[in-house]
Amino acid sequence: MLLMDILCTGAFFQSICLLMFKMTSTPVNYSENLLQNVHEGTEPPTTNGTTSVIQGSYHYYHYGCDGMNDKGWGCGYRTLQTICSWIRGTIEHSPAVPSIPAIQQILIHLEDKPSGFMGSHDWIGSFEVCLVVDHLYGVSSKIIHVTKGSDLNQHMPSLIEHFNRYGSPLMMGGDQDCSAKAVMGIHASDSDVYLLIVDPHYCGRARSCQELQKKEWVKWQHIDEFVHSSFYNICLPLCTGNGNISGDKNNAVIKVKKINRTKKI
Ligand SMILES: *[C@@H]1O[C@H](CO)[C@@H](O)[C@H](O)[C@H]1NC(C)=O
Ligand SMILES: *[C@@H]1O[C@H](CO)[C@@H](O)[C@H](O)[C@H]1NC(C)=O
Ligand SMILES: *[C@@H]1O[C@H](CO)[C@@H](O)[C@H](O)[C@H]1NC(C)=O
Ligand SMILES: *[C@@H]1O[C@H](CO)[C@@H](O)[C@H](O)[C@H]1NC(C)=O
Repeated sequence: MLLMDILCTGAFFQSICLLMFKMTSTPVNYSENLLQNVHEGTEPPTTNGTTSVIQGSYHYYHYGCDGMNDKGWGCGYRTLQTICSWIRGTIEHSPAVPSIPAIQQILIHLEDKPSGFMGSHDWIGSFEVCLVVDHLYGVSSKIIHVTKGSDLNQHMPSLIEHFNRYGSPLMMGGDQDCSAKAVMGIHASDSDVYLLIVDPHYCGRARSCQELQKKEWVKWQHIDEFVHSSFYNICLPLCTGNGNISGDKNNAVIKVKKINRTKKI
C-alpha cells in the first residue's frame, strides 16, 4: 500500500494507478454461465425430520457476477435476480433477469424511489423484491414480517406450507442482520428448524456447487443462528414451479399494485 502511495503521487502514475484500480475492481462477467441450483447435493441437517425445498431451477447470482461491482450493497439485488431467474424458468416468454440498473429503473418508474436512486448504492429489501417481481412477471407476493429473529419459529409453519404449495425461492432481509439472502428450503425435526440459505455475498467466479457448500455460501442454518434482535421481512412469491400465478391471489398479503406505501417496511 505504501508503495502504491508513493507511485501514485505523480500525475502520470496517477493515471496508471487509476487504470490498475479499475482493472482490479471490475469483477469477471460470467452472467451467461452462472451455476444452477447450487443447493443441490446438500445433506439435510438431521437424519430424521421433514425437508421441503424449491421446485424448479434458478441461477446463482452474487456480488459482481455480471461484471458490475456491487460489493457492500448489492445483496438484495442479487437475491432478487436469483428469484427472477427461477420465475423466468416457470413462465414462457417472460422478460430477462433485470440488471441492477434495470431494477433501479423499475423502482423509479413505479414511484417507489425518487429519480436520484438511479446509479446509487442504496440497498433494497423484501418489499422492493415484491414490487419488481410483480411488475416484471405479474407474480404477487406475500410478505411475512418477523418482528425479531427470536420469533422466527412462529412463522415456520407458513414457510413449510409455502414450499409445499408453491415451491418458489424466498427473499429474506432484515435490519440488524441486513444481509439479504435467498431461502431455498426448510427442514424441521422436532423443535429444530433449519433454513436452506443461498448467500449472494460471494465474490469472484463460483466454480462449483461443492465449493460453495463447503465454504458455507450455501448452507442449512438453524433458526437460532439468525440475529435474535433483528427484524426480518420475508418475501414469498406466489408462483408455482409450473408457472401457475392464478392460484390464490387473495392469499397475497401484499397486493403490490394497490399498496399505498406511506410506511417503509
Ligand atoms: C431426531 O434426531 C435427533 C438427533 O439428530 C434426536 O435428538 C431426536 O430425538 C430425533 N427425533 C425423533 C423424533 O426421532
Ligand atoms: C455482462 O455480460 C452480459 C452478457 O454478455 C451483458 O449483457 C452485460 O451487459 C455485461 N455486464 C456488464 C456490467 O458489462
Ligand atoms: C392453478 O391454481 C389454481 C388455484 O389453486 C387451480 O384451480 C388451477 O387448476 C391451477 N392451474 C394449473 C394449470 O395448474
Ligand atoms: C396514501 O396515503 C396517504 C396517507 O394516508 C394519503 O395522504 C395519500 O393521498 C395516499 N396516496 C394515494 C396515492 O392513495
